[in-house]
Amino acid sequence: MKNCYVSTFISGLSSVIRQLIIKEIADVEIIQVFDGLIVYKTKDLDKVCKLKFVNNTFLLLGLQKTNLDTSFNNEMSKLVKRLNLNFSVIKEHIKPLKKKNFKIMAIDKNKPVSIDYHITNNLESIISSKLNIHINKRNPDLEFIFLRRTEGIMLFMLKLTYNRVTEKKLAQGELRPELAYLMVSLANLNENKIVMDPFCGYGSIPKQIVRNFKYNMCFASDNNEELIKKLKKEYKNNNKKLFIKQRDALNLSYFEDNFIDSIVTDPPWNIFDKKEEHFTKFYRKMLVELNRILKDDGILIVLMGNILDFEKALDDVNLFKTDEVFKILVNGKKANIYVLSKYK
Ligand SMILES: C[S@@+](CC[C@H](N)C(=O)[O-])C[C@H]1O[C@@H](n2cnc3c(N)ncnc32)[C@H](O)[C@@H]1O
Repeated sequence: MKNCYVSTFISGLSSVIRQLIIKEIADVEIIQVFDGLIVYKTKDLDKVCKLKFVNNTFLLLGLQKTNLDTSFNNEMSKLVKRLNLNFSVIKEHIKPLKKKNFKIMAIDKNKPVSIDYHITNNLESIISSKLNIHINKRNPDLEFIFLRRTEGIMLFMLKLTYNRVTEKKLAQGELRPELAYLMVSLANLNENKIVMDPFCGYGSIPKQIVRNFKYNMCFASDNNEELIKKLKKEYKNNNKKLFIKQRDALNLSYFEDNFIDSIVTDPPWNIFDKKEEHFTKFYRKMLVELNRILKDDGILIVLMGNILDFEKALDDVNLFKTDEVFKILVNGKKANIYVLSKYK
């Protein structure tokens, strides 16, 4: 039997997520896609839990249309009355998680809200007794969540993903692995492709390439000596197809013209620097150099928060055609992912 799941993802990337999920889960049946949330059915729980490009995944336990003008607790109470929980399915999903404490939580339009426990007391007791797990409101290791969305729906879900990389584990400026994966997925890689990230920083993009994609050679460079040392240490030459070098991305003379198939990169944004002309100049030089080393049918994927300066540079150099732009948020800041190809 197929179960119904919900995965959340970076807003602005619905079309990419739809394609990836279809590619990844053979029997998937997409029910609905909202901005930042996809509802789908599949029998393949293993694949569901291993999706590399979503934020969190949940087992869907209830869904109803909801009124955004009435109170959250009022709408939740209506959904609680209509719930028809299948405890054997929930058990199946809890077993591999090996968790024993739970809490019911509520999120209204991205913000946690407090629950009127008169509404959920009964539900809590049933969940506890049927699943043999304990209520723990302070330190739960299993989460049941009521979520109301601006599209006018309310969902009741069991969270399945508990081992995500937390923001605390990421260095400042390091991309989330899901975002790096999504950017790489736009680069059409295969076993023949030569791919590079000339602003690799902590290596979030090359790490996704070598872990999850087919490629022929991967070049990762940055002008920061410390970061390159760190990355080299991590890989200790044990990957013969990965080349980590300290290089200035504005001068990549060690590459001949038309050598690289795909560049996936997250250049400095410098949005806090007021010398705007300076950064347009930086991006112009960067675009000219990347254009030189890219093959004629090559592809350039750029994540950019300094949209004004970057688009000005793109116009000035007039070397790249913008095939697609995805408008996203990175740590609450507006950013674009550009899919660029060379003018023929
Ligand atoms: C936005 S960060 C990239 C972060 C990276 N995606 C990560 O997840 O760690 C930009 C990187 O560009 C590097 N950088 C700045 N100017 C550079 C230049 N001229 N050549 C090469 N790298 C440069 C910085 O050292 C920094 O690591």
